[in-house]
Amino acid sequence: MPDRSFERILVTAALPYANGPIHIGHLAGAYLPADLYCRYQRLKGRDLVFICGSDEYGVAIMVRARAEGITPQELVDRYHPMIEEAFARFGMSFDHYGRTTSPVHTETSQDFFRRLAQQGTFILKTEQQLFDPEAGLFLADRFVRGTCPVCGYEEAYGDQCEKCGTSLSPLELRNPRSALTDATPELRETTHWYIPLGRLQPALERWIDTKKDWKPNVLGQVRSWLQDGLKDRAITRDVPWGVPVPEDVARQAGVDAAGKVIYVWFDAPIGYISATREWAARQGDPDRWRTYWQDAGTRLIHFIGKDNIVFHCLMFPAMLMEHGEYVLPDNVPANEFLNLEGQKLSTSRGWAVWLHEYLETFPPDLLRYSLATTLPETRDADFSWSDFQTRVNSELADILGNFVNRTMTFAHRFAGGKVPPLVEPGEVDRAVLAELAAFPERIGAAYEGFRMREAVFETMNLARLGNKYFNDTEPWHTRKTDPQACANTIHVSLQLCAALSVLMEPVLPFTAAKVRRMLHLEGIRASTPEGPGTGRGWDDAGHPLLEAGHPLGKPEILFKKIADDVIEAQVRKLEAAAAAPEPAYEPVKETVTYDDFARLDLRVGEVKRAEPVPKSKKLLRLEVDLGFETRQILAGVAEQMAPEALLGRRVVVVANLAPRKMMGLESRGMLLMAEDRDGTLTPLIAAGEPGAVVR
Ligand code: 2FM
Ligand code: ZN
Repeated sequence: MPDRSFERILVTAALPYANGPIHIGHLAGAYLPADLYCRYQRLKGRDLVFICGSDEYGVAIMVRARAEGITPQELVDRYHPMIEEAFARFGMSFDHYGRTTSPVHTETSQDFFRRLAQQGTFILKTEQQLFDPEAGLFLADRFVRGTCPVCGYEEAYGDQCEKCGTSLSPLELRNPRSALTDATPELRETTHWYIPLGRLQPALERWIDTKKDWKPNVLGQVRSWLQDGLKDRAITRDVPWGVPVPEDVARQAGVDAAGKVIYVWFDAPIGYISATREWAARQGDPDRWRTYWQDAGTRLIHFIGKDNIVFHCLMFPAMLMEHGEYVLPDNVPANEFLNLEGQKLSTSRGWAVWLHEYLETFPPDLLRYSLATTLPETRDADFSWSDFQTRVNSELADILGNFVNRTMTFAHRFAGGKVPPLVEPGEVDRAVLAELAAFPERIGAAYEGFRMREAVFETMNLARLGNKYFNDTEPWHTRKTDPQACANTIHVSLQLCAALSVLMEPVLPFTAAKVRRMLHLEGIRASTPEGPGTGRGWDDAGHPLLEAGHPLGKPEILFKKIADDVIEAQVRKLEAAAAAPEPAYEPVKETVTYDDFARLDLRVGEVKRAEPVPKSKKLLRLEVDLGFETRQILAGVAEQMAPEALLGRRVVVVANLAPRKMMGLESRGMLLMAEDRDGTLTPLIAAGEPGAVVR
C-alpha cells in the first residue's frame, strides 16, 4: 500500500447499464481487475467491502426499451437478473449487487440532492429547450439528432457530433429532429438544476494535485478536462424515467416537479452508496455503511473503464466534497478499451464475446486468466480466440496444470499419497523455498499498484519455478538412486502447489479451490465475502503450508487443452453474429384504385445536364428534356451516384409533382429510382421518346 495507512477498503466497480448483457469489454475495463484486487485484499486479511449493481435509469435505457416496444422497467427487469447471474458464475465476489430502481436508492439519491439543494450548491436555470410534440417529451442528449454546425454531418447527436468530435448542445444542431419520432422539435421553456462545476474547479484541482500515484492515463484525461475549464452541468432532466426530483425541493424553488427526474450521472454513483446501505442492512447493522463512506480511515477505490473517468474523477468527487460528510476516492484505476480480434467491440454489430454465452462452453477461470494477462491497463489491448487458446494450452495446462499434476502423481506413486518429510534438504531445495518466501510480497505489490497483468505473470512464475525445480532435481532418477532426495523434491513441490493454491486464488478462484481439495488443504481464509474471514492467508503462502505426513486427496486434471476446431467454432460464431441479418422487404402499401394511380403523370425524360449542387452532399441538379419542355429537377442521390451515371440517360419522371424548393433551387418533378433493401439506388432507365407517357 502506498505510504498512507488505512483501516478499511471500499471498492466499487462501475454499475453496468441494465440494457444488455455483459461482454468481455466490460470485464476487462472494470470488473475483472476489481475482483482480482478485492480477492487479493481479502486474502491479505483486510477489511473490505466490494460494491456493484445495475444502472437502470437514463436515456439509453429508454431508447432501447422504446425500440423493443416494452417499458423501461420491463427492460431492466430482464437484464438485471441476467447480469447478476453471469457475474456470479464468473466468480465476481461482490459483497452486494444492487440496482438503482430500488427504493433505498431513490431515497438515498433524493436525500443527497435535497441536501445539496438546501445548502445552495446548485444553480437553477430557465431556458428554451427542444420538445418533441409527438412524443410529448423534452429532447435531452441523445434524444435529438440533426446537422452539425461545425462539419455539416447530418446525424450529429444533441450532445456531440461523432464525425468531428465537437461537443454540442441540442440547440446548436441545424435541422434538429427527434431521435424517437423523427418529428421536428419545438422550443419550450423549462427549468433545471445545475451543478456549478466551474465554481468547484479550483477545489477539484487542489485535490487532484495530491494524487501523485494515479495512473498516467487517468491523470492525463482529468488534466485535459480541467484545462478546457469545467462547465456547469444540468443534473435534472424532463424525462419520465429516473429518480424523481424531490417535490419539497422543487416547491421551495417555485418549480413544478412533475415529470422531472435526476440526471442519471448524478444518481448512478450515488448507487454505490445505496448498495452499501442495502449491504449494511443485510448484515443486520444498518448504520455500518457510514463507517465505509464517512470515516476517514477508508480507502475508496473506483474501478471503471476510461469512458467514465470524468464522472468518477471530477463530477462525483465534486458532489461528495459539496456534501461534506463523505470520504473522497483514493484512487480511480481506470482501464483503456479492449478490442476483439483487432477490431473495436461493437454490440450493435454483434462484434463481442458475451459472458453468458462464453460460460456455456468454457469454465470461468480460463477467461479470467486470459483476460487478466491482456488487460488494457496502459493502452488499448486486444482479445483474440487464438491468444485465448495459447494462454490455456501453453500456460495454464502446460505450466500450471502440468506442475500440479506431476507433483500429485509422484506423491501418490512414490510417497504413499502423503506429504513426505523434508530431511536434510539440498541446496536446490533450500533455494527454492527461499525464493517462494518472496512471492507473496512481489505479487502483492503488483496488485497494490493496480498492475494486475504483472501480478498474474508473477503468479505463473511460481509455477514456472516449480517446473524448473522438478526438472532440475529429476525425481524420476533419484527415486532409484537417492529416495530421500526424491522425497524432498515431492515435499518441496507440494509446498509450492499449496502456496500456488492461495496465490492463484484472485485470478483462478475455481482452480485454486480444486487444488486445495486435491491437497486436502484446509483453514485458508476465503477471498469471497461468504467464506471464513480468518485462517491462513496471503502472507502465510510464502512459508510451507503442509505438515509432513498430511494425507493428500486424489489428483484431478486442472485444465483440458482446447482443440483448434473449438476455437475455430468460436471465431465463426463471432463472424456469423457480426454479419448483418438479411433486411426485410418493405411491405406492400394499401391498395389504390386505377383512378388514384392515373392521377400521376409519368413521362420519359432525357437527362441533358447533371451536376452537383454546391454545398449539398445529397443533391444533384439535373436538366431533363421532356420533349415539350426542359425541366430543372433536383435528385437526392449525390451520395449514391456520380452525375455521369445519369447524364444522357432516358429516365422516368413524375411530371405533375408539385414544385419544391431545396437549397434555394426549384425542383419540378422527380426521377423514379429502384431502392434495394440495403438502400442502393438505381435509376429506372426507360425507352421511348422524351415526353412519352408511361402508364
Ligand atoms: O458506463 C456505464 O456503463 C455506466 N452505467 C457506469 C455508471 S458508473 C456509476 F456511476 F454508477
Ligand atoms: Zn461535426
